[in-house]
Amino acid sequence: MVIKLIDDRHLARSLRSDVRTGLTASPKQLPPKWFYDSRGSELFEEITRLPEYYPTRTERAILTLRAPEIARITEPKTLVELGSGSSEKTRLLLDAMLNRGTLGAFVPLDVSDAALEAAVAALNQAYPGLSVSGVVGDFVQHLQHLPDGDSRVVAFLGGTIGNLEPAERAAFLTALRAALHDGEWLLLGADLVKDPAVLVPAYDDAAGVTADFNRNVLRVINRELGANFDPYAFEHVALWDPANEWIEMRLRSRSAQSVRIADLDLTVDFAAGEELRTEVSAKFRREGLTAELARAGFELRHWWTDPHDWFGVALAQAVHR
Ligand code: SAH
Ligand code: AVI
Repeated sequence: MVIKLIDDRHLARSLRSDVRTGLTASPKQLPPKWFYDSRGSELFEEITRLPEYYPTRTERAILTLRAPEIARITEPKTLVELGSGSSEKTRLLLDAMLNRGTLGAFVPLDVSDAALEAAVAALNQAYPGLSVSGVVGDFVQHLQHLPDGDSRVVAFLGGTIGNLEPAERAAFLTALRAALHDGEWLLLGADLVKDPAVLVPAYDDAAGVTADFNRNVLRVINRELGANFDPYAFEHVALWDPANEWIEMRLRSRSAQSVRIADLDLTVDFAAGEELRTEVSAKFRREGLTAELARAGFELRHWWTDPHDWFGVALAQAVHR
């Protein structure tokens, strides 16, 4: 079953508003959630299999080792997953939680209905005894609509927390805390600060899959808003910003050009070399993340990493305030 908290009209309205605001701003920018139509979600899955893209396999290795311990500590009745995508790594948690005998329901939430429908169908097949209710929604806007209950664990994996800017992140964590009861859990995957020689290729792979993923946002705007972007008129850029400790993805206009966005009755001019920011992917340190969690009302109870300290999985509990 898939429930829609955002219908297609609402989604279209928010795309229009984000595109108008972002492409008339200086510097130009777009929110990363618009990468993920069905092609974008497939490209992301392809990214997760690239040799340069270490986060997915590193997080999977941590979860493989720690899932039984996570299930023992949290004993959830319901597992909620935000930005769930394919929920592929989540199966490690489902297996451990089902083995423990506590879990009855899984609620994956994602803005991409294509990714969600496919994941829910696959999960229903793999876990016939489990109630799986997919929710098409925005994890920034719809946390108050999470199914109520007690003994919930909310998983937010893959480092997607890093795709929110610091102020958005604080608001997100505060809203999530407000949606939970004291004692419930957040299982958070966070990519960690490391050598840029490892970080940058993860966002600028040799096969060009990330470049294609980056350009996909232009295809989404072409299709949904009747625009005439030539995606190849933009160069993929991935750079490490050491002051903010984040990777920034941009699209750099190869020449001076004008793009028409018919449905917005808007013409957007790009200077040669002008850049459009499409994503930040913040990298974390344990102390910083612990403090961010604490400010929102979560206490870090466990912290697991891999032997290189490349990726962190935090288990935090909603505490009384
Ligand atoms: N959790 C998976 C997928 C990560 S990709 C993993 O670890 O591999 C990021 C996912 O978050 C995508 O499926 C995308 O559609 C979803 N997403 C991005 N922004 C979102 C938002 N604002 N609300 C809900 N889902 C969002
Ligand atoms: C979903 N998110 C955690 C990915 C990341 O690494 O920031 C999205 C991505 N962008 C480029 N490659 C992957």
